[in-house]
Amino acid sequence: MASSYKSSAAKHCKLLIISGLAIYLIFTISLPNHLINPNFLFTIHTKSPQPTPPTNLSHLAFGILASEGGWHFRRSYIESWWRPNQTRGHVYLDVPPTGDLVPWPARSPPFKVSGNLTELSKEAKAAAPMVLRIVHGIKEVVRDVGGDDGSVRWVVIGDDDSIFFVENLVEVVARYDHTKHYYLGAASEFYMSNVWFSFNQGFGGAGIVLSFPLAKALADDMDNCIRRHAPFFITADIIINACIGDLGVDLSPEYGLHQVIRFYQNAPSVPH
Ligand SMILES: *[C@@H]1O[C@H](CO)[C@@H](O)[C@H](O)[C@H]1NC(C)=O
Ligand SMILES: *[C@@H]1O[C@H](CO)[C@@H](O)[C@H](O)[C@H]1NC(C)=O
Ligand SMILES: *[C@@H]1O[C@H](CO)[C@@H](O)[C@H](O)[C@H]1NC(C)=O
Repeated sequence: MASSYKSSAAKHCKLLIISGLAIYLIFTISLPNHLINPNFLFTIHTKSPQPTPPTNLSHLAFGILASEGGWHFRRSYIESWWRPNQTRGHVYLDVPPTGDLVPWPARSPPFKVSGNLTELSKEAKAAAPMVLRIVHGIKEVVRDVGGDDGSVRWVVIGDDDSIFFVENLVEVVARYDHTKHYYLGAASEFYMSNVWFSFNQGFGGAGIVLSFPLAKALADDMDNCIRRHAPFFITADIIINACIGDLGVDLSPEYGLHQVIRFYQNAPSVPH
């Protein structure tokens, strides 16, 4: 009895020593140096987090989806608020500029020509191939702003006749945490557009605003999202809304964004 008690105690003791040694080794090998450093407790108590600098215009990247044909006479809408060398971003044209747009007007945002989506649109059996250029534009904006360095917090997508009051826009987005996933937009002010499409989507004419992490996630999923939704939907806004929904993000309505439809009488024939 006594001897068996003794040997079992010795066994436990050995086990304890071995496991203690093992735990010690695991910790010293796997922990980063600064955690083993005796100054660890000292540094953790003295380090204060860096405050995030307030959001300003330089943190917004604009993507204006336009067409070459329209830009000749619509550019004044954008030039009314665009500030060369202050506002960041590009206007995206379907084809390279011609005529009075050469040389490219200094007051217009710099231009890019949209990517060729013929293949993708065929592969996806798109119900409305024309609208894919706008949806895919988000991916191109993310690519072109180079915001991976953290200098872009918000991506603003507008049409060639969207007018932004940029100070107001900065003030609005500054209320949100740009490190989270946000989709800001507003329903149409033309009631029937919401009936036809959705009461819970951002209508592009008013502009939609995406936090950079959401724009990036959307860009990464873009081609697949087009394959999933392009066969079924005929407007860019609704495809964008569906793709964002797939990422688990809902619209945050911002009622300062207004989409006004001019022609009420023949609106049913113009569902855009
Ligand atoms: C905007 O904020 C950044 C810091 O994120 C700062 O470097 C820059 O000078 C600010 N720009 C203006 C116009 O205040
Ligand atoms: C914008 O910057 C470029 C190069 O820095 C300069 O040549 C151009 O004149 C500037 N444009 C305006 C409108 O200030
Ligand atoms: C776009 O790509 C298709 C096939 O990939 C090609 O036939 C067409 O010419 C291209 N369009 C332009 C404008 O480059």
